[in-house]
Amino acid sequence: MRMTVFGTGYLGATHAACMAELGHEVLGVDVDEAKIERLRRGEVPFYEPGLPEILRKHVDSGRLKFTTDYAEAAEFADLHFIGVGTPQRKGEFAADTTYVEDVVARLSPLLTRDAVLVGKSTVPVGTAVRLQGIADWHVRSGVRAEVVWNPEFLREGFAVKDTLTPDRIVIGLPGGEQEQSLARELVDEAYAPILESDPCPVIVTDLATSELVKVSANAFLATKISFINAVSEVCEAAGADVTVLADAIGMDPRIGRRFLGAGLGFGGGCLPKDIRAFMARAGELGADEAMTFLREVDSINMRRRERMVDLTVEACGGTLIGKTVAVLGAAFKPNSDDVRDSPALNVAGMLSLKGAQTVVFDPQALDNARALFPTLGYAESALQACDGADVVLVATEWAEFVELDPAAVAEVARGRILLDGRNCMPGDTWREAGWTYRALGRGVPV
Ligand code: UGA
Repeated sequence: MRMTVFGTGYLGATHAACMAELGHEVLGVDVDEAKIERLRRGEVPFYEPGLPEILRKHVDSGRLKFTTDYAEAAEFADLHFIGVGTPQRKGEFAADTTYVEDVVARLSPLLTRDAVLVGKSTVPVGTAVRLQGIADWHVRSGVRAEVVWNPEFLREGFAVKDTLTPDRIVIGLPGGEQEQSLARELVDEAYAPILESDPCPVIVTDLATSELVKVSANAFLATKISFINAVSEVCEAAGADVTVLADAIGMDPRIGRRFLGAGLGFGGGCLPKDIRAFMARAGELGADEAMTFLREVDSINMRRRERMVDLTVEACGGTLIGKTVAVLGAAFKPNSDDVRDSPALNVAGMLSLKGAQTVVFDPQALDNARALFPTLGYAESALQACDGADVVLVATEWAEFVELDPAAVAEVARGRILLDGRNCMPGDTWREAGWTYRALGRGVPV
């Protein structure tokens, strides 16, 4: 079948390429000419493992095309996915929904026949209903554009796998309508290849529930991370080990070990802004008290970054003046080049402000990091970053850092102190090689 995907960022480009992989004819749409030019040449403008291969394959086969022309998109298909960004508004907690609104306002008047607009972006509850109003206002008479919601749960770094083999598909329809409609028919057809090859649960619900499923999922994940990080503060104070504790509580299937990774906490373009937008929206709806705990989730998370800086100062003997710190990692997590709200870069920036000479290395995110923080020092390899360093700080758990040879690092570094911001390094191996190993949430046993 034919479909369009509006937005060619991490979400939209992945969705477009994966839909082509499922056998559909896809037109990716964006307002950014330069980005569309690169995509037309089969180039992915960001790092996502596995995506370049399928994107190139389907650009070459002609099944995946790109345009900036909304009229061409309106003509191309009756099913239009919307995967544009909903960033945090400047100076506020609320999400900025301008980009989704713009897509609907620009596309609707160009439609010449009934169409279905499927929102995939993470939005405050109530957005779909508002977008339906915008569509109704703009469409030509006799044409119906139905807005439905189909939230996306993909993780950066696993985006292709998560899209092609999702845990669940959630479809929000107006009034939760169960009878056959054009929207249900087209969305079912789009996902039929997934359901035939590797079935997953499909939850059909109303618009508000579908919007809330997504923000609640992210808020829960953020809460789980901040819970273990709060416990890790107590572990440090009491001389306990948060990683052993997480293993032990995670064995209870009601709790589960995943997302109990204590350390520098969450960053990226989703979790931080989504919990803030959830609080803001709950407040607008008069349910602000229900979500105030998310403020604490946010502050526990931000406190981890400060604790990392304090630990570095401590390791440097009380001052960072005249000290060199190698910061390994700039991306908000491994297998990504995304530096949006990255704990690693935030810590590097704070260390630099406190007087340290900070040298950052990341296997994929260097260009993005340099663009965001041009004044920090950068290196072209992990060993180069460690050259002359008094302290080595691991801020993103890339596999190549975990596998670093302590002896090789000792040959270039000035000091022998390893600070593990992600509880990912083999601490005993480093200790045996003569290093002082310190990690967040792991106090000195008493
Ligand atoms: C997150 C959700 O996991 C996806 O389901 C969702 O679709 C996506 O947001 C989105 O809304 O688009 P993502 O931001 O790609 O995905 O990254 P995660 O894997 O969730 O990691 C988020 C942050 O939490 C990272 O900074 C990571 O280092 C941190 N984290 C994760 C921890 O600190 N500890 C953990 O145990 C797990």
